[in-house]
Amino acid sequence: MPSFTIDGQEIKAEPGEKILWAALRSGIDIPHLCAIQGVEPPFGGCRLCLVEVEVGGQREMVTACSEPVREQMKVYTHTEKVERMRRVAFELIMSDHHIDCKNCAKKNDCNLIKLASSLKVPLRPKSLRSLARDLPIDDSHPLFTYDPRKCVKCGKCVFTCQSLGKSFLDFAHRGFEMMVTTFDHLPLASIVCEACLDCVKVCPTGALYMKETGGIDHG
Ligand code: SF4
Ligand code: SF4
Ligand code: FES
Repeated sequence: MPSFTIDGQEIKAEPGEKILWAALRSGIDIPHLCAIQGVEPPFGGCRLCLVEVEVGGQREMVTACSEPVREQMKVYTHTEKVERMRRVAFELIMSDHHIDCKNCAKKNDCNLIKLASSLKVPLRPKSLRSLARDLPIDDSHPLFTYDPRKCVKCGKCVFTCQSLGKSFLDFAHRGFEMMVTTFDHLPLASIVCEACLDCVKVCPTGALYMKETGGIDHG
């Protein structure tokens, strides 16, 4: 069982365990958005879980959700460099986010609001102009709604659907155009999905939400 330190605190980890899960299990919070425990390889898309590690006198930046613990590793979660890079990562995520919390179904349980608070940054990036796209809301399904303008491309819905042996949701396009959608952009109501709703449950934003929670903002 490897032993290592996080911010000077000695931690025991399972062999091969990633820094993020060992930290959370030990009550040490590291910001994260896209990580799903047990999904291999980790997606590593949000970059919010950056930490600095030191092994054999060498320091480097790694993502805690993808870096396995190593014996004698020293992990630093709050260096000035780590906090600066996390803030940049968060600003990039929010730069194309349609921020309209008062009309959002997740306004009382939004991971982005929690992250902004823990990173001590505003939700709306000050240094970047808004790149939010005017993508159409898919309100066709009787149970849930998909608002792609609030999707942060964390992939949680995609990987959750795939882990159940399905692929009703997937990434389409690349770069700035990248989005989560159905095959051929078909309306949700037309896909033959069992509506297990696990994708809705894992979505950390107001992109996928139950109709009963309301919050459709067509503006
Ligand atoms: S997901 Fe909704 S509540 Fe969260 S920041 Fe975006 S608009 Fe606000
Ligand atoms: S719809 Fe939700 S869970 Fe899926 S990628 Fe977008 S933000 Fe993540
Ligand atoms: S949680 Fe590690 S990169 Fe997103």
